[in-house]
Amino acid sequence: MNEQKTQQLGNNNHQIILGDALVALESIRNESIDLIFADPPYNIGKNFNGHKDKWDTDEAYLDWCYKWLNLCIQKLKPNGSFYVMTSTQFMPFFDIFLRDKLTILSRLVWHYDSSGVQAKKYYGSMYEPILFCVKDQNNYTFNAGNILVEAKTGAKRKLVDYRKNPPQIYNSQKVPGNVWEFSRVRYRMDEYENHPTQKPIALLERIVKASSNGDDLVLDPFSGTFTTSFVAKQLGRRSIGIELQEDYVKIGLRRLEIQNEYNGEKLVREPRSFEPQIIEQQKILALF
Ligand SMILES: C[S@@+](CC[C@H](N)C(=O)[O-])C[C@H]1O[C@@H](n2cnc3c(N)ncnc32)[C@H](O)[C@@H]1O
Repeated sequence: MNEQKTQQLGNNNHQIILGDALVALESIRNESIDLIFADPPYNIGKNFNGHKDKWDTDEAYLDWCYKWLNLCIQKLKPNGSFYVMTSTQFMPFFDIFLRDKLTILSRLVWHYDSSGVQAKKYYGSMYEPILFCVKDQNNYTFNAGNILVEAKTGAKRKLVDYRKNPPQIYNSQKVPGNVWEFSRVRYRMDEYENHPTQKPIALLERIVKASSNGDDLVLDPFSGTFTTSFVAKQLGRRSIGIELQEDYVKIGLRRLEIQNEYNGEKLVREPRSFEPQIIEQQKILALF
């Protein structure tokens, strides 16, 4: 794919742009987006469909990031929210760059149960950082009531707060704190797609529910398997998803039920090794 060209797919409510984020972002109207979730390559050498996620120098990676970060800010509505991820080693640079331009309301930690490869001579990585920023700290969407979680201390032990008059049972629900625990997407999970860094639906549900309303426009400039657009659709929002790799765009078209064919190819989910019956069904379908 020529990195200067983009291809528009999808429909009015859910647009998919095949192409480079820097080029595609330019084509989006300024101050038109309610919520942006950006999960870029982390510059740690992951393989995205043959495309190595590694820049020649750290400076080159950051220069590239600062360009799309600025574009994201430009596209965000004055009351919009911006969630951005990168690796632990680059997040401090993002933080310093963004804090002059936006208000960083939360520095979130997505903590998961296992680091994949078990480190033996150092402490394995069990989290990824997320910044939650807004343009206007006095005017932004935050639907606290839609993302409540169990307040373990109060709910389980039915504790009574004697500081209140009369004494009251502690709340059984609360707004989540800044450490979020969600399992990573595993091969055997229903939502699994063939992508090295797919984000969990549950993580995006919390973000989309909290920071957007029905019909709002949600943008993901590095869509991968299009988890953000998928969740936006489930929750009645509109979406724009950008992705450089055609194979991942095909996942998005299928996941969002926009097309079941692409350039004559049937878009079917790749069966996993423990799904032999699906492999057989697909072989039979291919005969017709
Ligand atoms: C960390 S992954 C995103 C995963 C996604 N959040 C999900 O849930 O599947 C980053 C994605 O950015 C894509 N990408 C890399 N460089 C890009 C660029 N210049 N423009 C658009 N997408 C790019 C990669 O192909 C990869 O799928």
